[in-house]
Amino acid sequence: MLKEVIATRFIAPLREGGSLPGLVEADDLGVYVLKFAGAGQGRKTLVAEVVCGELARRLGLRVPRLVTVELDPVLGLGEPEQEVQQLLKSSGGTNFGMDFLSGALGFDPLALEVSPEEAGRIVWFDALVNNVDRSWRNPNLLLRRGELWLIDHGATMIWHHNWPGAAVSAARPYDASDHALNTFAPDVAAAAARFAPLVTEELLAEVTAEIPDVWLAGEPGFDTPDELRLAYARPLLARAGTVHQRIHGLQGDQ
Ligand SMILES: Nc1ncnc2c1ncn2[C@@H]1O[C@H](COP(=O)(O)OP(=O)(O)O)[C@@H](O)[C@H]1O
Ligand SMILES: [Mg+2]
Repeated sequence: MLKEVIATRFIAPLREGGSLPGLVEADDLGVYVLKFAGAGQGRKTLVAEVVCGELARRLGLRVPRLVTVELDPVLGLGEPEQEVQQLLKSSGGTNFGMDFLSGALGFDPLALEVSPEEAGRIVWFDALVNNVDRSWRNPNLLLRRGELWLIDHGATMIWHHNWPGAAVSAARPYDASDHALNTFAPDVAAAAARFAPLVTEELLAEVTAEIPDVWLAGEPGFDTPDELRLAYARPLLARAGTVHQRIHGLQGDQ
């Protein structure tokens, strides 16, 4: 189970990315980056954050700790900005949160040398979950004390927007040409050899068990949250074995 915290104070909106996450303080005195359940992108973004974040962590990649954040809409009452107030008001209940890494910087490819091994692992992982949001324009990688941390997995697993076509969609290749780590000669074959055998039914069951039921309830075509959890696991299990052969656009490829 993800740790559950209760938001006690809204600190500020974070405006760097495409969505509008917020920074909140919680009842455990921690500071968290919060993604709103009531945001336009919807609950699927939050599910994707949990599935990919917890999967990446179990593979040994660095991901800040994930939590759920209970939000009382009254926290929005004093918020001067209309847009932020609206988000707070519409997000009562369970939201997604991530440990705020204080002092972390955005990844700058010119300021850090990434090994082919590490680049390969991250590219392979992004290919597995079909992450379209790790480009050099928008790397969604944080750097702290010389180490890379993965954030922002909301734009992954495109197949969860159309379950009947999920198997076909999950069979498609992954285009890594704009990937933030493409210039570091990612060794995806080595990553595949290490990671693919780890992505088992058991591991995916463990990962999908972390998704709060409330974000899964009511999905058309599924009777229970657990049925939908299996639907999340299936394409990942199917992709894991061979996805490295379907990564194209890597530098050095013909
Ligand atoms: N855990 C974190 N620690 C520190 N800064 C973060 C963290 N998560 C996000 N940020 C900052 O907030 C920005 C927006 O967050 P992100 O998850 O990328 O959302 P989006 O791109 O959907 O708006 C990031 O680019 C980063 O600068
Ligand atoms: Mg982002």
